[in-house]
Amino acid sequence: MTHFIPPFASPSTNRQIVLARRPAGTPGRDDFASQNAPVPSPGDGTFLVRNLYLSADPVQRGWAANPALTPIGAPMRALAVGVVVDSKDPSIRAGEVVYGFFGWQDYAVATRADLLSLIPNPRAPLSTYAGVLGMPGVTAWLALHDIAPPSAGQSVLVSTAAGTVGSVVGQIARQAGAHVVGLTGSDQKVAACIDRFGYHEAYNYKTGDLAETLARARPEGFNTYFDNTGGWILDTAIRAMARHGRIIQCGTAATPSWTPPPTGLRNEREVLMRVLSWTGFFIFDHAHRFGEAVDRLTDMLVAGQLDRDETVEAGLPHVVGALEALFTGANSGKTLTYIGED
Ligand SMILES: NC(=O)c1ccc[n+]([C@@H]2O[C@H](COP(=O)([O-])OP(=O)(O)OC[C@H]3O[C@@H](n4cnc5c(N)ncnc54)[C@H](OP(=O)(O)O)[C@@H]3O)[C@@H](O)[C@H]2O)c1
Repeated sequence: MTHFIPPFASPSTNRQIVLARRPAGTPGRDDFASQNAPVPSPGDGTFLVRNLYLSADPVQRGWAANPALTPIGAPMRALAVGVVVDSKDPSIRAGEVVYGFFGWQDYAVATRADLLSLIPNPRAPLSTYAGVLGMPGVTAWLALHDIAPPSAGQSVLVSTAAGTVGSVVGQIARQAGAHVVGLTGSDQKVAACIDRFGYHEAYNYKTGDLAETLARARPEGFNTYFDNTGGWILDTAIRAMARHGRIIQCGTAATPSWTPPPTGLRNEREVLMRVLSWTGFFIFDHAHRFGEAVDRLTDMLVAGQLDRDETVEAGLPHVVGALEALFTGANSGKTLTYIGED
């Protein structure tokens, strides 16, 4: 597979999107500012990356809230796919494609510790290394296989079912023979779940009575719930679980802020009476297993067994607002900003 990588002949300016103020809740456009900086030079043991695809990921809401991770005035902490243009690390060569923590900017000096994937011979379009082959896809693969491997005869419920994590979970579970039910936030996304991602059933959680919908869909209860939202959707889903069911806590998109901690329905008796297991998953504990999961997901993608929804906008200004869209549900699949060319 050939990939167009712009030559970047004479870099002079490093365009950056920096955090202008600490967001109250979900970061919006006014929380960011653009600035130009000199292109940095790599020192010994480091390399210079020219970013191509900047990623917007829900986890950035937490990164923007944390001064230790994104100081005010610094480029927004972000994952990106880029190409190495200069290297003082003997194990990384100029021209190699990389995916890692390079921030919302044209250029980043990075070390191996900043990498999630080193991709010397890409087998798939470069954008996919931030989506179904990136942090969200790998999360879906590892969390599902580690905590509740799907199998024939089981039922799997998935929230944010049409998003990157959710759509990969849905497709893996379906191919393993499970009965897969998706929850998502629009009728258009419901259609994508059924038509593209292999869900047997999908429902818009914003319309109708969710408790009734889940009881009708699976009167005997779900064996697995892959939860990406938390909040009232989780509260409702717990009461639709089968005995000995397993809940994978992967995301909490439905809770706008954890300060102060929200209060709500108490469900511990449901966990007890249904004998549920409820397990958290945090992808950055598993960085060392990235390669293994990317290889398996690439095999699926190349074999035509993994559909993906991806929205790519060209031009650095588009990255501002991409994060907000993830929390209104306005995004369609993986949201990327291409900055390879002006
Ligand atoms: N634990 C980990 O290590 C890890 C790693 C990666 C991702 N995640 C989590 O996985 C989830 C999905 O990530 P993704 O990258 O694939 O993003 P995504 O699903 O493409 O986008 C986020 C989605 O969250 C849903 N959402 C937003 N606000 C919501 C609300 N108030 N109530 C209910 N749903 C809401 C929307 O889907 P609808 O339109 O369907 O409502 C939105 O499209 C996120 O919660 C993310 O934090 C966790």
